[in-house]
Amino acid sequence: MRLHVADHPLVAHKLTVLRDVHTASPTFRLLVDELVTLLAYEATREVHVESVDIVTPVTATTGVKLADPRPLVVPILRAGLGMLDGMTRLLPTAEVGFLGMQRDEETLEAITYANRLPDDLSGRQCFLLDPMLATGGTLVAAIDFLLARGARDVTAVCLLAAPEGLAVVEAAVGDRADVSIVVAAVDERLNDKAYIVPGLGDAGDRLYGVV
Ligand code: URA
Repeated sequence: MRLHVADHPLVAHKLTVLRDVHTASPTFRLLVDELVTLLAYEATREVHVESVDIVTPVTATTGVKLADPRPLVVPILRAGLGMLDGMTRLLPTAEVGFLGMQRDEETLEAITYANRLPDDLSGRQCFLLDPMLATGGTLVAAIDFLLARGARDVTAVCLLAAPEGLAVVEAAVGDRADVSIVVAAVDERLNDKAYIVPGLGDAGDRLYGVV
């Protein structure tokens, strides 16, 4: 597993406003969108391209275009949905699948309640979107879902990660696949309710309200 922590003053600035308990939902949503676009730039560094011949107004030359099959972007519902526009802004031709996952607040285990994904993901670069990598349970379940359908190249884009969750993902993935995690920051720890500290609270609630 490879970890990339975005090291950029704009990312740090936006993250600070996002963490602030006084930041209301409309600003929170906007900042998530902007942050994800910055993270998407890092997350797509190894996106597959193929060469293409073109003609400029001056001469013939060779460039690159995104290769087939198109990348697949998979927001994990519900909070990952708030990251979708920021990601597809940089990858407008990507396909979008959905995974509905919820953590059981008693056992903290991830339960899959919905999925809409291609049956065959072999050869597909997959980008999972989940703002909070806390215990790692949801991300491991999502990665397992994609690997079971043949994916071998998975990048998770998260806003924050806890060291405990990163260790869980690393141990679970092993050398089964090429997994990268791109985050805006790795925080200190989890608290006894499995919230990231200092964190930003419940990302889904802050995006969409407590429903
Ligand atoms: N999910 C969240 O939304 N926030 C956390 O801190 C942990 C999990």
